[in-house]
Amino acid sequence: MITRRAFLAGGAGLGAAAALGVPPARAAAARTARVPLSDPFLLGVASGEPAPDGVVLWTRLAPDPLAPDGLGGMPSRPVAVHWQLARDEGFRHVVRQGVETARPEEAHSVHVEPAGLQPGAEYFYRFKADGEISPVGRTVTAPAPGTRSRELNLAFTSCADYQTGWFTAYRRMAEEEPDLIAFLGDYIYEYGDYKYPVRDQAGGECLDLAGYRLRHAQHKADPELQLAHAVAPWAVVWDDHDIENAWAGDVPEQPDPPFLKRRADAFQAYYENMPLRRAQRPRGSSLRLHRTLRWGAVANLHLLDTRQYRDLYACTGRSGTVGPDCQERLAPNRTILGQEQEAWLEGRLKDSAATWDLLGQQVFMMEMDWTNGEGKGYSNEGWDGYVASRDRLTAAIEATRRNAVVLTGDVHSHWAGEVKRSFQDPGSEAVAVELVTTSVTSAGDGLDEYPNTGVLLAENPHVKFFNGRRGYVRARLTEREMTVDFRSLSRVTEPYAPAYTSGSFVIEPGAPRLNQV
Ligand SMILES: [Fe+2]
Repeated sequence: MITRRAFLAGGAGLGAAAALGVPPARAAAARTARVPLSDPFLLGVASGEPAPDGVVLWTRLAPDPLAPDGLGGMPSRPVAVHWQLARDEGFRHVVRQGVETARPEEAHSVHVEPAGLQPGAEYFYRFKADGEISPVGRTVTAPAPGTRSRELNLAFTSCADYQTGWFTAYRRMAEEEPDLIAFLGDYIYEYGDYKYPVRDQAGGECLDLAGYRLRHAQHKADPELQLAHAVAPWAVVWDDHDIENAWAGDVPEQPDPPFLKRRADAFQAYYENMPLRRAQRPRGSSLRLHRTLRWGAVANLHLLDTRQYRDLYACTGRSGTVGPDCQERLAPNRTILGQEQEAWLEGRLKDSAATWDLLGQQVFMMEMDWTNGEGKGYSNEGWDGYVASRDRLTAAIEATRRNAVVLTGDVHSHWAGEVKRSFQDPGSEAVAVELVTTSVTSAGDGLDEYPNTGVLLAENPHVKFFNGRRGYVRARLTEREMTVDFRSLSRVTEPYAPAYTSGSFVIEPGAPRLNQV
């Protein structure tokens, strides 16, 4: 049987340039030249949403990924895409195959949902269109419901700003050969061009459907990102930059272009470019992103959306740090999830029979005083701006006695700590652990520690760990324990930095504490 490592070593799933050992810089230059290409699979392949009996297989046809209209150089007609799913990388044992239509109105993306698959099994998949064959992807199905023996090897990260650096973190994640990769938001940045980018992006600020499609295509053309998509199924949620900086519900940061149209365009491009289920296709400016993925009896991963239904920022109406005397952030009616999602999550925690309940979400949940020394300052963009919403969730975790671990992105550095039942009550116990992943590139190379790191940790004693480099988090979950390694890269301004472990912790079921290894 072909092992995962053999799959990686063989270069399967890589873009042709990476498979041939061409450095990313030269591959990027070749793409920028926009030579008409016949290969429509330059965006690679992906899988996602693993269930015990099925998984989503994704590709998007684009022989010219950087075409300014966002359509990838495709003609405006439907194209038949053949797909195959096999138990072996050589496709001798094909178990499912079929034909999907890639349509111009969905940017020639396909979302295939083969059903009736074996639980807890490894599969390989590929596509064919116009006589060309795609790279091969590897994916896995979730273990059967109730299965206790199977562990979950999870990797998660967030925040991949193309202009800020190389996507080395994606390569290092792929080398971990995880069962599942969770992405916690800011898969793209909508921003216009920086003055001194590490890498040039195409297209300027994303303002409409063509702009978002082009940005996604440029990301998907990256060989490091293609490798991470080809090696394991993904579970994705967005944050603000997938749409617009600091958007909150239907309120934008900038009034132009009209926000609900812009949001609809961003959601459409997000759906087209992610291995989501067809049921998650957007309806206008709405897309239901919150859902649960189950991994046998070991873990439920509840994926949350803290952007689409949140109340507007407390105290100022704009994202920022506010003082302790800003009472609005404590108002009992405020919500970061929206009432429907709050009730849904409470129900999911009540129904859960898994050892671990993972909450994959975007913004800092722990209380965090960001002001050094005298005085306190809380971000009104994280859960500190929605204290009642946090208290209702921690009450639900306590009432259902769940082993909750919160997975967070957004802040472009590694943090770990404990979420207390109520941060208003100094004697309050922790009810959950929070693991905050750093970014793929955002904020640049960074440092392991900053001059104010010690003060921040001392003034927030429930926060136990910080690392200010780029990278990702890997975790191994069993019925007995969850082990966590924070993985860091020395630099992202140059490609191929090695990854190192900057912090390791063990969490035990029934004890929401971080135990340093
Ligand atoms: Fe970010």
